[in-house]
Amino acid sequence: MGPEKTEVSAALRAGYKRRVDSATAMAGDSWERTVFIETYGCQMNVSDSELIAGVLAARGYRSVESPELADVILLNTCAIREHAETRVAQRVRQLISARRRSDRRVRIGLAGCMAQHHRDRLLEVVPGLDFIVGPDAYRRLPDLLESESPVADVRLDRAEVYDDVAPARGRGVRAWLTIMRGCNRFCTFCIVPYVRGRERSLPAPVLIDEARRIAADGYKEIILLGQTVNAYRDADTDFGALLRMLAEVRGIERIRFTSPHPADMTESAIAAMRDCPQVCPYLHLPLQSGSDRMLQEMDRGHTVADYLDLVDRMRRAIPDLALSTDIIVGYPGETVADFEATSRIMASVGYDHAFLFKYSRREGTRAYRLEETVSEAEKTRRLERLIAEQGERAARINRSLVGQTTAVLVEAPAKRQPEWLSGKNPQFKTVVFAPTSARPGDIVDVEIESTSSHTLKGRQLGA
Ligand code: SAH
Ligand code: SF4
Ligand code: F3S
Repeated sequence: MGPEKTEVSAALRAGYKRRVDSATAMAGDSWERTVFIETYGCQMNVSDSELIAGVLAARGYRSVESPELADVILLNTCAIREHAETRVAQRVRQLISARRRSDRRVRIGLAGCMAQHHRDRLLEVVPGLDFIVGPDAYRRLPDLLESESPVADVRLDRAEVYDDVAPARGRGVRAWLTIMRGCNRFCTFCIVPYVRGRERSLPAPVLIDEARRIAADGYKEIILLGQTVNAYRDADTDFGALLRMLAEVRGIERIRFTSPHPADMTESAIAAMRDCPQVCPYLHLPLQSGSDRMLQEMDRGHTVADYLDLVDRMRRAIPDLALSTDIIVGYPGETVADFEATSRIMASVGYDHAFLFKYSRREGTRAYRLEETVSEAEKTRRLERLIAEQGERAARINRSLVGQTTAVLVEAPAKRQPEWLSGKNPQFKTVVFAPTSARPGDIVDVEIESTSSHTLKGRQLGA
């Protein structure tokens, strides 16, 4: 038995499965542990997973692509709807039972919004869970992983912005950059302010530095993230000013952001979108409902007319603007007339894309105490109506693009047709085209020849 194996079994006795990289172990006796992160929920969570990987990498953890290879399995969770939580609950139980069949000491834990939502209660409900870590506690995660007994750290921290943590970004042409965290709006249906804490922005100079690093690392596109991303403010730098500063960063060809709140959209931001060619003509602008009564009940802070006026001003400033939205059907008290208003407003705005949800009652929110008035079957019916209408609308809008030329940032082989190339155009539509010498990261002109409700197909010009 060589010295390496002795070390491994000693580590196993100590309660850890540690893998020894023999070269470094001989040089400096350093141990390496591995982590597998699985991400649920929104892009904020994707970005947070990169942050978590960065925190752990600084303490010697290497990220791996499969749970079987990991000493630490971390699910970065979402709490936005009940379904998001049941999925994670199933997955974590499956991982815990798979671990029982192995003799290794593997730590399994939950990070993110569902972790924050249920806190240490989860350790009781899910036996075998080793740790719970909330969105503001990630820098303490390495210490939690040293604990011999199950632990939870769910302290929210108004000051935490992780501006000194280098995220371990995934590969690709696109990088996520969180510019603000938390939310102050407390829309009645929404769990986010409770699990992510109060709104806070990162310092602008930190963001500019990070954007330069992103460009130096070869990414071409940045997506700025925040729950109310356009509420960004650092001293005199508002969201519009930040957009202008980021557009100056050499090497960043495209800038997008999500999700802006309609009531936070300023003239300064609209003007920056109009003036900076790097800022893409695409806006995800959640509407939630097309009924004023519902918007008021949800406490969204604007009326339907305000929203339509904003869309109007933005389209005048940015004529090729593409729009997407979020809609909730079946909020308590939503009548057929309210629902029809939503359907009508969606038609009149003419969204390129929509994320459509059935209302899901979340414990802790203001709407939790409201009695549900729309049955599950009726929610499904309303949802399916909107899905059908939106599908036809998107197909129609895309058909109208046939014959036009669009600039595609090439990403990867097409999903359904791997011999083809795919990428996004400025309006964030997926474009696929027959193979050329174009490589990921190139921006090429593609003439659109055919379309579906989801994809544009064409041929690269000049190739
Ligand atoms: N901060 C973003 C929204 C983040 S949550 C914004 O205000 O624009 C993403 C979407 O999930 C919301 O826009 C809403 O449509 C949906 N959502 C949030 N809470 C929900 C709930 N309880 N039930 C159903 N959908 C919900
Ligand atoms: Fe939730 Fe409203 Fe905040 Fe968006 S703005 S995260 S919907 S509370
Ligand atoms: Fe879900 Fe949290 Fe995002 S609740 S939608 S992962 S902010």
